[in-house]
Amino acid sequence: MVFWLYALVLSTKEHLNEKGFAMNKATDTTNGGLKVVPSQNLLGADIYGVNLKLPLSSEDKQFIEKAWADNLVLRFRGQENVTPQELTQFSNALGDLDKRPVRGTVNGGYNDLPLEINVISNIIGDDGKPIGGLGSYEADWHTDMSYVDIPPKGCVLYSVEIPPTGGNTSFVNMYEAYNRLSDKTKQKIANLKCIHDASKNSTGELRQGFTEVTDPRNAVGASHPLVRIHPVTQQKCLFLGRRKNAYIVGLPLNESEELLDELWAASTDPELKWTQVWQLGDAILWDNRCTMHQRDSFDASSRRLMYRTQIRGELVMG
Ligand SMILES: [Fe+2]
Repeated sequence: MVFWLYALVLSTKEHLNEKGFAMNKATDTTNGGLKVVPSQNLLGADIYGVNLKLPLSSEDKQFIEKAWADNLVLRFRGQENVTPQELTQFSNALGDLDKRPVRGTVNGGYNDLPLEINVISNIIGDDGKPIGGLGSYEADWHTDMSYVDIPPKGCVLYSVEIPPTGGNTSFVNMYEAYNRLSDKTKQKIANLKCIHDASKNSTGELRQGFTEVTDPRNAVGASHPLVRIHPVTQQKCLFLGRRKNAYIVGLPLNESEELLDELWAASTDPELKWTQVWQLGDAILWDNRCTMHQRDSFDASSRRLMYRTQIRGELVMG
């Protein structure tokens, strides 16, 4: 009996880190044996062998970071009952996390969530207010928060409740978008910057405290190089943010519009796209520096609840 207890303590200790959490281990037969299976498209891959409820070992973290740089968007399927705290812990292993804005989007029974969790949902809380952001509408192609000086480097989105159909999320590969441009266009945009309008969210709603933009030249928001050097891969990618009210600094408005239309047509080519058709328990990790994403609408009478974390980025280097 004493030996049995001693053996149990030893075997348990083996799997705990200094904070007392059980560890994901690359060699562990339960959580280890990590595997990447790339999609048939130009980005996106499934990762097998990771349990988001457990802290990452340093080997698994390195494995995930490499797969992330190679595939731009990673999917962790079948992650059941991951708590907001566990999602925060997993995301935090990949970098510091931004906190949600003070005016936040969490009402009803969800306001005790960690500040690092953003709620994306169309559900109306007991107080009659939406418990999250974005409703059930379509969200146009965009990069998250590119209108600030230091946009997030990536985000994790975890499905808690999903509608029977719709609400899928698509991503495009912005390295390929750049690579496919003509040499003439590449030369033209090499040193140009674009203003990323902050006034509207991705579903087209005017944000609190902003007025409608009538001339993109007067849009308020950060300006970033159109061609970005990714800090990890050192490769060039297009960095567009969102189309509405975008303006290329220094160009006459009509030339800016024409050039932006050309760049957007190249970037949203279906050949560059991979679509995440959500299943319950899916978590998606995307690189916000070299992808854009878009969400389909869904039936407003069905429920969709996602938890999202945002990993802090760096200055955009051209
Ligand atoms: Fe987004």
